[in-house]
Amino acid sequence: MRRATRFLSVLLAGLALLAVAGYFLLAQTTRQWFDADLALRSQLAVSSARQSLENNWGADRARLTETLADITRDERIMGAAACSIRGELLAATDSYPAEFSCRSVLERMGRAVPLGTLSWSMTPELPSGSVHLSVTLIGEAAQPIGAVVLVHDLSYLNRREETTRNLLILAFFILSVGASLVTLIAARLAWKGWTIELQRALKGDATTEFQPLVRDVRALAERLASEREREARGGLWSPERLRSTLTQYLQGERVVILANREPYIHEKTADGIKVLHPASGLVTALEPVMRACSGVWGAHGSGSADRETVDSHDRVLVPPGEESYSVRRVWLKEDEENGYYYGFSNEGLWPLCHVAHARPIFRAEDYEHYVAVNRKFANAVCEEVDSDDPIVLVQDYHFALAPKMIRERLPRATIITFWHIPWPNAERIGICPWRDELISGLLGSSILGFHTQQHCNNFIDSVDAFMESRIDRESNAVIQGARRTIVRPYPISIEWPVHWLTKVPPVAESRRLVRKELGLADDALLGVGIDRLDYTKGIEERLAAVDELLTRHPEFRGKFTFIQLAAPSRTKIPRYRELNERVEAVAAEINSKWSSGNYRPIVLLKSHHEPMAVFQYYRAAEFCYVSSLHDGMNLVAKEFVAARDDERGVLVLSEFTGAARDLTEALIVNPYDLRQASDAIAAALRMPVEEQKERMRSMRRLVSEFNVYRWAGRMLVDAAELRRKERMSGRLGVTGATTRSEAA
Ligand code: G6P
Repeated sequence: MRRATRFLSVLLAGLALLAVAGYFLLAQTTRQWFDADLALRSQLAVSSARQSLENNWGADRARLTETLADITRDERIMGAAACSIRGELLAATDSYPAEFSCRSVLERMGRAVPLGTLSWSMTPELPSGSVHLSVTLIGEAAQPIGAVVLVHDLSYLNRREETTRNLLILAFFILSVGASLVTLIAARLAWKGWTIELQRALKGDATTEFQPLVRDVRALAERLASEREREARGGLWSPERLRSTLTQYLQGERVVILANREPYIHEKTADGIKVLHPASGLVTALEPVMRACSGVWGAHGSGSADRETVDSHDRVLVPPGEESYSVRRVWLKEDEENGYYYGFSNEGLWPLCHVAHARPIFRAEDYEHYVAVNRKFANAVCEEVDSDDPIVLVQDYHFALAPKMIRERLPRATIITFWHIPWPNAERIGICPWRDELISGLLGSSILGFHTQQHCNNFIDSVDAFMESRIDRESNAVIQGARRTIVRPYPISIEWPVHWLTKVPPVAESRRLVRKELGLADDALLGVGIDRLDYTKGIEERLAAVDELLTRHPEFRGKFTFIQLAAPSRTKIPRYRELNERVEAVAAEINSKWSSGNYRPIVLLKSHHEPMAVFQYYRAAEFCYVSSLHDGMNLVAKEFVAARDDERGVLVLSEFTGAARDLTEALIVNPYDLRQASDAIAAALRMPVEEQKERMRSMRRLVSEFNVYRWAGRMLVDAAELRRKERMSGRLGVTGATTRSEAA
C-alpha cells in the first residue's frame, strides 16, 4: 500500500507538471490564432468600408467619422481612427484611445515592417487591459493616402483565457481524482491478489498448509544471514573451536556445570552395575559440551549404584572409557529430594512455566528445601572451582537461587545461567509466592540465557514488575548496583555430528530391525514419537491425531503404525502417574477400535530407551511427530533431523516448541487441532521423496551449523566480553599482565 501511495504522488506531480506546461502552450497558441484572426477581421472591416473611406478621405470629416463609427459597430472594436500618411489625425470615433496617436502608430509600423506592406498589427498593453491594434493602408499600394487604425478590445480574450484556464484546472482535478481512484483500485486488487497468493501458500495444497508464518521464515533468514556473515571467519562450531574459545577468550581450561540431572547414572541391575543415559534434553545438549571443555559437572547422585562408583571426593570420571571430565555427585536425603525436586521444582515451577493446563502447587516446606538444596549445590560448586574467577554454568529451574549464592562466595566468578524451559509472562510468574527471590537469585548471574527472545522479554518484564533495578533495554541487561546481568536468547541444540550415530545401523537396516522387533509387516508405514511421559509433551493429543488420521484417511488403516517411546518420568508426582494411566488407556482404546488380525495402530513402549535404540527408531520411521503443548526448545526434533543422514523422513512439529522457530521446513501444526495434525501426518506419509529430501537437507544444514558447540561458544564469548568490561571498570581488579595492560 505504501508503494501505491508513493506511485500515486509521483503520478499526480507528473500530471500537474504536464497540465501547467499544457496550459502555457495552449494559451500561447490560442493567442497567436486570435491575433491573426483579428488582423484579418480588421482588414475585412476596412475593405468593406474602403469605398466610402476613400471617397470622403480628406474631404468630408463628418462622413469619414460616420464611416469609422459604422466600422466600430462590431462590439469588440473599441475605436477607429483615420490618419493621413504624414501622421495627422483626420477623424476618430469617440472611444478611440488617445494613447495611440496617428504619428506614433505609423512610425512604429514603419519600423516594424518593410515599405509597401499594406497592413500591420500589434497587441500593446493599456492600463485598462490589452488591446489589438491594426493598421490598414488606404489608397494605392505604391502611393497610400493614409491609414485606418482599428483598436480591438481584448478583454473578452482575457475572459476566454481565464475560462480556458479554469476548465483546464477542472479537467486536471477530474483527471487526478480519476487517476487516484484507478491507482487505488489497482493497488487494492494487487494487495488482494498478494493476500490470496499468501493464503494459498499457507493453506493451499496438503503440505504447504503446515508451513510456518512468513514472519518466522523471514526472521530466521535474516538471523542466518547476519550470523553466517559474523561467523564466516570462524567456520563451523566444533568441540575444538569451543575449546579454543574457552582458552583464548576466558583463559580458562575447564568449566564447572551445575545441573540437577547427571549425565551418567549408575544403576544396580541383576547383571551388575549399568551406566544409564537419562532422557533429558539438558543432558543431550550439555554432555558434548563437557566432553569438549573438560571440568566438573555437579549433579544429584540419583542412581542406585552412584555411591559405589564415586571416589572419596564424590567424583566419578566420565564418559566411561573416555574419562574426559568428572561428575561431582551431591547426595540428597529423601525429604530434600521430595521438597526440592518433586515438590518446588516439578509441582511448582514446571507447571508455572509451561502453558499446559496443570495448576502449580507451591508449598512453603518445598520452598524451604529448595533454598537449602540450592545452598548445598552452590557450596559444592565453590568446592570444585580452582580459581577465584571461575566459569560456572548453572542449569535450569532447579537452581534459580544458586547464582546469587555462588556470587556471594565467589564475587569474581563468571556465572552463566541457562533456563531450559519457557519463562512465562510477568503476570503468571507473579503467582509464585517466592517470585522476588527467584528473580533476585537469577540476577546473581553474569549472563542469563533463554531459548527465545520472547522468554527474555518475559523475564525482563518480570524484573520490571517485581524488582528494584535498572533495565538497559538497548543491551538487554539488568543492572543492580554495580552488577550487570545480560539477558540473551541462546537457542540450544545438539552435538553435530551425533556421536551415537556411528554405532547405529544405517537407515535400511534400522527399518528392518525395528519392524522385525515389533512384529510389523516389512512394508508397514511407521511414525514415531519419543518423549519422557510428561503432560507438556501432548502425548494424548498425539495419539488422538493418529485416531483422527485413521478415521479421515481410511487408506492408512491396517498399514500405518505409530510407535510411542515414553520414558517414565517424575513418577512420584500424582499428575505424572495419572498421565501414565491416561496415555495407556487412550492407546488401548485406539488399538481396540482399529486393530485387525496382527495389526495394531499404536505401539506404546513405556520404558527407558538408551540413545542407540532411540536413534534406531528415528531412522526406521517415515516421520517423527513432536506435539508438545509448550516446550522451551525440544531437542527430539533436532535429533530426528540429525539421525536422517538418508535425507528422508518428515518432521511434524508443534508450533508451541522453540524448535519450530528454527526448523521451518518441518510440517508445523497446532497439536490441539486434531484435523490439522492428522492431515499433516497424512501429508508426511504421502510426501514425495524429492520434497522430503529438500526439507530434510535444509533442516540438516541448519542444525549442523547451529549446533550445541555454537550455543555454548556464543555464551562463552559473551561472558568473555563481559569480563573484559568488568575488568576495565575495575570490578575484577588487576590479575595479570593482560589485565594490567587492559586497565592501562
Ligand atoms: C527437561 C528439563 C531438564 C530435565 C529434563 C528431564 O528437559 O529442562 O532439566 O533434566 O526435563 O527431567 P528430569 O526431571 O528427569 O531430569
